[in-house]
Amino acid sequence: MNILIIGSGGREHALAWKTAQSRRGVKLFIAPGNAGTAQVGTNVNVAVNDFEKLGIFAVENHIEMIIVGPEDPLVRGIYDYFKNTPNLQHIPVIGPSKEGAQLEGSKDFAKIFMKENNIPTAAYLSVTAEILDKGYAFLGTLKPPYVLKADGLAAGKGVLIIENLEDAREELRQMLDGKFGEASKKVVVEEHLSGIELSAFVITDGITYRLLPEAKDYKRIGEGDTGMNTGGMGAISPVPFANPSFMRKVEDRIIKPTIEGLRKQKIDYQGFIFFGLMNCNGDPYVIEYNARLGDPESEVILPRIREDMVELLMAVANKSLHTLRVSIEEQPVATVMLASGGYPGEYEKGKEITNLDKVSGSIVFHAGTKVQEGKILTNGGRVIAVSSRGNTVKEALALSYKNAALIDFDGKYYRKDIGFDLH
Ligand code: AMP
Ligand code: GLY
Repeated sequence: MNILIIGSGGREHALAWKTAQSRRGVKLFIAPGNAGTAQVGTNVNVAVNDFEKLGIFAVENHIEMIIVGPEDPLVRGIYDYFKNTPNLQHIPVIGPSKEGAQLEGSKDFAKIFMKENNIPTAAYLSVTAEILDKGYAFLGTLKPPYVLKADGLAAGKGVLIIENLEDAREELRQMLDGKFGEASKKVVVEEHLSGIELSAFVITDGITYRLLPEAKDYKRIGEGDTGMNTGGMGAISPVPFANPSFMRKVEDRIIKPTIEGLRKQKIDYQGFIFFGLMNCNGDPYVIEYNARLGDPESEVILPRIREDMVELLMAVANKSLHTLRVSIEEQPVATVMLASGGYPGEYEKGKEITNLDKVSGSIVFHAGTKVQEGKILTNGGRVIAVSSRGNTVKEALALSYKNAALIDFDGKYYRKDIGFDLH
């Protein structure tokens, strides 16, 4: 079976790695991919948002399924493009429709959806320049810190948490004035929730869903969760406080009403849903939806899924997910991200990565790498995720850290305290 995976990060390498293990003979293509995906399939030099070229490639190479990794092509409607193009509509796309991807692409859309479906989330007001006064008034009713979110996609930078009311008012004004371009022409002003974050994941065929392993990622660049936000510097799965009684609340109060809401509103959704959650004294609240898997969460949850990935995704495409069970390995998996020096600020690319052959016992997922003249070079801020299994999270982390120390490139940086808060 010929399968095309779209994207070029650690998530896509993990998807490719898992898909390649299918009992069905799989021929994998990854657009555009990285040095890691090139080890399990064939990289295709087409950009993730170039639907026309992706379509031509898919036809010429008899692609039978497309798995979309990142949010950008989903929010731009890759699903709808394939569905509405006569010579492409036979190819199932794993990922939501453009409307479904609005759960991630518009914070306002997600808030309205949650309100309509009684899904617990922070109190909010959506503000545009015309009603700036109402925005100020709403801020005045909240306790600090203040949460401001650009409505649209802002490359992970669109959420601001501000201590002081004056600063929050000024920031709101600047956002509406175009600080994040179109993305912040509307701003969701939100009540601040305190608690511990975790991410839950499901795969859905639009009718039913299957729960995938939960994960916790470490977003800040610095140890002790300090410094700037990144795409994620490490992750663990399972999450110790996500016990059966907590996860039952997540399913009953959040996941089931979400799937039901999509169905009721006739929103086409065949793909992954990522629930960014806050555990507030044992009660789950939705912080955000994502219309895709997480990165580096994929690098810890995919190794824990026993199900054959192709069987699972075919059931999604055929809307027969109710016939499948998804069993999860109990053994924890942890991942540690090796980043380029300077990231998430400025950093250099093109540094040679050495000692990959010295790694043993871990799975090396490439995040930002490329092959050039037979060498593997850094090609992004996040470079390599080192994932390991263990009998405990601690054991898994110890193995990842042992191998993280061996892999080398100029400027290598990684957090030494992933999972520190959970021992
Ligand atoms: P998001 O892009 O929506 O995931 O927001 C980025 C981060 O901001 C989240 O991972 C949380 O750490 C934090 N955050 C977002 N909304 C809230 C909220 N209402 N209360 C507390 N923290 C929040
Ligand atoms: N690691 C967070 C994300 O993928 O959005």
